Amino acid sequence: MATMTRREFMRLAGWAATVTGFAAVAIPIVAYFYPKNLEEVPSEPVPVGKLEELGVGESRLIPYGRYPALIIHTEEGIRAYSAVCTHFACLVKWNAEDGMIECPCHEGYFDPLDGSVISGPPPRALDKFSTFVGEDGLLYVGEEQQAEGDQA
Ligand code: FES
Repeated sequence: MATMTRREFMRLAGWAATVTGFAAVAIPIVAYFYPKNLEEVPSEPVPVGKLEELGVGESRLIPYGRYPALIIHTEEGIRAYSAVCTHFACLVKWNAEDGMIECPCHEGYFDPLDGSVISGPPPRALDKFSTFVGEDGLLYVGEEQQAEGDQA
């Protein structure tokens, strides 16, 4: 049976500590960018709340899959968009005073009616989501699920 010298043991222990330390730092970083429980977009509609609790001119930011969704009650109805800016992925917010969706990172502005770019560096419109009011009176973001037998 081969024996290990003290020097070999210390070298092996040093490598083991280095690998363990690297893994302790690298694994949480990788897990942060690849959360396993969050879908890109949920397969089921996500409730926002009661429609009457979201007045005209008000907005909500809700968790919607991997990223949040921005819901705005405009004069023309409810609109829902990905809250992730199409420039460098900052979170956009509703600017009720100016009546625009605003990205605070580089002063990008989006139209609340269709998500298109009004000004600033974003290269394209915000991703748009569907909304509907369920039979329970709640406002949902996502595609309304057809009950079996309801299909046209
Ligand atoms: S990240 Fe939104 S404008 Fe740059």
